Amino acid sequence: MKILVTGGLGYIGSHTVVKLIENKDEVVIVDNLFNSKLVVLDRIESITGVRPTFYQNDVQDAEKLDAIFAKERPEAVIHFAGYKAVGESVAKPLMYYQNNLESTFVLLRCMEKYHCNNIVFSSSATVYGLPDSVPVTEESPVKSATSPYGETKVMIERILSDVAAVHPEMNVALLRYFNPIGAHKSGLLGEDPNGIPNNLLPYINRVACGLLDHLNVFGNDYPTPDGTGVRDYIHVVDLAQGHLLALKKLQSNPGLVIYNLGTGKGTSVLEVIQAYEKATGVKIPYEIKERRPGDVPENYASTDKARRELGFKCQYNVEDACLDGYNFQKAELERNK
Ligand code: NAD
Ligand code: UFG
Repeated sequence: MKILVTGGLGYIGSHTVVKLIENKDEVVIVDNLFNSKLVVLDRIESITGVRPTFYQNDVQDAEKLDAIFAKERPEAVIHFAGYKAVGESVAKPLMYYQNNLESTFVLLRCMEKYHCNNIVFSSSATVYGLPDSVPVTEESPVKSATSPYGETKVMIERILSDVAAVHPEMNVALLRYFNPIGAHKSGLLGEDPNGIPNNLLPYINRVACGLLDHLNVFGNDYPTPDGTGVRDYIHVVDLAQGHLLALKKLQSNPGLVIYNLGTGKGTSVLEVIQAYEKATGVKIPYEIKERRPGDVPENYASTDKARRELGFKCQYNVEDACLDGYNFQKAELERNK
């Protein structure tokens, strides 16, 4: 199948592109390199032996996207492109609403015009807000999000649902990711954010490689077994596989479908530190700090629906992801020397 992947050079997109190529799908990437580098294309090629078609374009550029659709005629789209930094979205709401919503509008108009009826959208567990109970199922209520970033996910889910409701020929998969971590085994693909990382694993990777002195653990007085925040950390390669399964599902013309993509297991911050140390043999010094505003105590997925309907099952655990993430960070440092 020919698949247009927006944001395909980003963290989750690049791992998914590798899986698609390994599955013999034809991939067309549209990415403006806002948060990725062109070298990722070379690395996808060196892992798979295939260089996917690449357009360095903003998805919001309607004329250019129209030309890409006219030429490529994709049968399906995976829509990763978007801004994703929660804190930045609070500081720059307009930038987030503009990019995340407008890129979706432009994409949907092209899909309509060129009769491309299948879309997989990168949503997030953030749409569950502060969950009433865990694990969260796909039927758990979608709540007003705690950040403009999260709000864009709630809004785009709604837009896609409304569009699907009046287009019976359209198939939409809303994939609610939990916490993607880890990297490709090759050490060539992974997550290496600019500046001081906001997310736990990128921060720990920097500590492990001696770039930061210690980890700040945000709160140890949550109502969780050890008092630190609990999340559902999923290896990015497992997450990537989930996209292939979702695309396969769309071929049965299901209309709108929604799946949690997580492991079904909650892991606390202290447990992540332990797993990291065990997997890598590197000690992670940490200090307990105040809670981070906006954090929920505990969030992990019910994965029953994805297992039942997609056959989704994770192959990797948190330790595997810690080791792969560490190896990527080390390799990246070597390459940047
Ligand atoms: P990422 O920033 O690594 O990848 C996004 C890619 O989209 C980048 O390569 C960026 O350059 C590109 N992009 C952004 N705006 C664009 C535009 N207007 N036109 C073209 N390209 C554009 O992020 P990621 O972690 O790979 O996340 C991918 C998607 O998954 C995002 O929509 C994100 O919100 C969602 N998501 C991520 C997480 C996470 O923790 N990483 C969790 C839940 C959901
Ligand atoms: N944490 C620390 N220290 C750090 C960073 C994080 O203790 O330096 C803790 C947090 O308090 C939380 C856990 O580690 O308990 C995970 O935090 P992350 O920032 O890695 O992930 P979040 O669950 O806060 O955020 C993720 C995605 C968002 C998404 C959100 C809700 O990064 O995109 O899940 O689904 F919106």
